Amino acid sequence: MAHPRSVTAVRSPRFGDDWWRRGVIYQIYPRSFADSNGDGVGDLPGIIDHLDYLGPDGLGVDAIWLSPIYPSPGLDVGYDVSDHTTVDPVFGSDADFDRLIEEAHGRGMRVILDLVLNHTSDQHRWFQASRQSRSGPYADWYLWRDPSGYDDDGHPLPPNNWLSFFGGPGWEWEPAREQFYFHTFLVEQPELNWRAPGVEDAQFDIARGWLDRGVDGLRLDVFNAFLKDADVRSNPVRDGTTAWGRQEHRYDRDQPDFPDLIGRFRAIVDEVPGRMSVGELFDGTIDRAAGLTEDRHLVFDWGLTTMPWRAAAVRDTIELREGLFGQRWPSSVMSNHDQPRAATRLAQTGEAPDTDAVARGAAVLLMTLRGTPFLYYGEELGLRDVEIPAIECVDPPAYRFTSADFTWWDRSRCRTPLPWSPGAGAGFTNGRPWLRLNADAETRNVAGELADAGSVLNTYRRLIQLRASSRALQTGTLRLLPAGDDDVVAFVRDAGDEAVLVGLNIGRTSCSWAVPTGNDARPWRVALRTHGDASGGANAESAVELRQGSTLELAPDEGVVLVRTG
Ligand code: NOJ
Repeated sequence: MAHPRSVTAVRSPRFGDDWWRRGVIYQIYPRSFADSNGDGVGDLPGIIDHLDYLGPDGLGVDAIWLSPIYPSPGLDVGYDVSDHTTVDPVFGSDADFDRLIEEAHGRGMRVILDLVLNHTSDQHRWFQASRQSRSGPYADWYLWRDPSGYDDDGHPLPPNNWLSFFGGPGWEWEPAREQFYFHTFLVEQPELNWRAPGVEDAQFDIARGWLDRGVDGLRLDVFNAFLKDADVRSNPVRDGTTAWGRQEHRYDRDQPDFPDLIGRFRAIVDEVPGRMSVGELFDGTIDRAAGLTEDRHLVFDWGLTTMPWRAAAVRDTIELREGLFGQRWPSSVMSNHDQPRAATRLAQTGEAPDTDAVARGAAVLLMTLRGTPFLYYGEELGLRDVEIPAIECVDPPAYRFTSADFTWWDRSRCRTPLPWSPGAGAGFTNGRPWLRLNADAETRNVAGELADAGSVLNTYRRLIQLRASSRALQTGTLRLLPAGDDDVVAFVRDAGDEAVLVGLNIGRTSCSWAVPTGNDARPWRVALRTHGDASGGANAESAVELRQGSTLELAPDEGVVLVRTG
């Protein structure tokens, strides 16, 4: 990567080297954030133009994470990378990227890049060379294996029973080599062979290259899948409702030597203080995520993206993650580019709820749980999933395989452009957006929500501000309070001299919540509510002291944050 340059320092950041723990991280899906040149696809100059929206005088996030920006045929919409070292022209130039780093750093924000190191596109030069011949420098860089035999018609049989997570078999025959290659994802996304000499060094060089250009953190795509069983043994089979579920994935991910590999990667990140990484757990449980977590190296778990919006389920999820993470630091994720958007998903659980009220309640949870919040672009508007007609679907697993053994949710629905303002193109583009906009873009957009004090967006702004001023919310312990009123989830974040009490009515009716005061004589003050007058109730109520015996009326799905100091 030939970009030697002096990297700008982060100017007056809100937090020091532990920003990855105290701060809020905002995920940008670059194709859908802001289009600067009218081609209908978001790009880096578009992001730069809107940094003030995200920065200290705007939403107030501390870092942005960009989903892949590298050249790609786009079959897995950027996660099929054909060159990891440069910027896809559809997003701009390398100079635009350097400017983005400078402009973000200039506003006190860090930048995290998404690295896809488990597989490449089949158009990557490494694979192009590898598929041609069993000799040459890249011959073993992918997972090539001989057939396990031939059927009666002379067709080669795959080496083992491994499957593709995106549907169908995991092995693909390559006539030029007379061997199979493995792919966990699309057939156009061949799996790299991390065990082959040279592959690890090449991958680490890619990471170093971006870190040298000023990147502050790296997100590792499906990192626990990097290593496979060296003997490619078949997975044990078990009962299940899908083909994937009928295997115990013992040999195609989570190998015993993976912690050593990831340790070597983390050492590179740690060469400079203040850098971090976050691993995306592939198809795993919360305890696995907790087990792979270390200081400065977070791991996504999916507990908050799958829990139903019911008080008991939310309580159980919090209890489980607190128990499993213990002293380690969790991440909080309720939406991303692979999952239904939180507003849509959570509002499905209740009986005809006010979806914006649910989105505001979910915002309270995301910003007050113990862990680093990852906010997915559009989540701050309470954006819903968008109905995408089958003909416009741009998610191959959703249309390539139709079988009772394989179920898939069209991810195009949660990847639609961010609506900035009313009017054609919704301020996202002057052209034709690459994916259709939300049907309510005329009213649900950034400009409209900024002007509405009670909007989901302004709730996020207030919550992020509150979090930034509260040590208890950033780093305090979390104690779940016993269920009193069945619908109210309540917990205390404690940092010694400061405590924060969070109450969330996950119910379809209002309730009178008896504010728990414990033995502490100090009163609680209301810092924020998600329902009520235009200011969200905060100003009106902040003077009110809540002591022993006080109750608060909570509207359906209302969240309230109370503070006790001194
Ligand atoms: C995980 C990414 O989040 C997802 O979008 C992608 O399809 C798979 N990895 C394969 O790259």
